[in-house]
Amino acid sequence: MGNVIIMDHPLIKHKIGIIRDARTGTKEFREMISEIAMLECYESTRNLKTEEVEIETPLTATTVERLAGKKLAIVPILRAGLGMVSGLQTLIPSAKIGHIGMYRDPETLKPVEYYCKLPADIEEREVFVVDPMLATGGSACDAISQLKDHGCRHIRFLCIIAAPVGLEKLKTEHPDVDIVVGALDDHLNEIGYIVPGLGDAGDRIFGTM
Ligand code: PRP
Ligand code: URA
Repeated sequence: MGNVIIMDHPLIKHKIGIIRDARTGTKEFREMISEIAMLECYESTRNLKTEEVEIETPLTATTVERLAGKKLAIVPILRAGLGMVSGLQTLIPSAKIGHIGMYRDPETLKPVEYYCKLPADIEEREVFVVDPMLATGGSACDAISQLKDHGCRHIRFLCIIAAPVGLEKLKTEHPDVDIVVGALDDHLNEIGYIVPGLGDAGDRIFGTM
């Protein structure tokens, strides 16, 4: 059974407050998304395996721990997921990066896939799927299904803002996936936007409003 973590941390609360503010410009918005993603990555990697190795410090021989187990991959859901990648890469620079391109059909709100490029050995990796917004949950669920079709078995999903309905859908369809949420919001409006939310994450990251 996957874990669900709703981040409860003053730094994340402060930074999410900044990105919710409609007056926040593209540069600061992008910086905050990356920093929140880094903090979420720190939390979600708490259970990675380590192994003991012997090394020499300048003073003596000692035993240290280093990461062991599966290699890692980061998979942003385009476009907005791209904004979270740098934050994760800061902490896990050796992770390979895959991309899944999806947009929501504005009428049906169903995700439409337009791109998929994954590392060749993706099924051997622990995968961090990232997308700032979990609204209906359609995009995240489809992206994760696609990764499972490629053989992935160890998947985490990191988002910044979630709607209750999207979180429930993700937990139901992919109960094995660990989920990290920056803030759980109130509801979706009639056109599928998260309220209070932050608007269109892709547009705010890339300045395409
Ligand atoms: C946004 C967001 C998610 C999706 C969430 O992408 O980044 O991928 O909507 O909605 P859902 O949970 O209802 O599927 P969007 O379709 O706006 O595409 P973009 O990132 O290219 O702007
Ligand atoms: N996608 C966004 O970018 N924002 C929302 O509120 C919902 C979906």
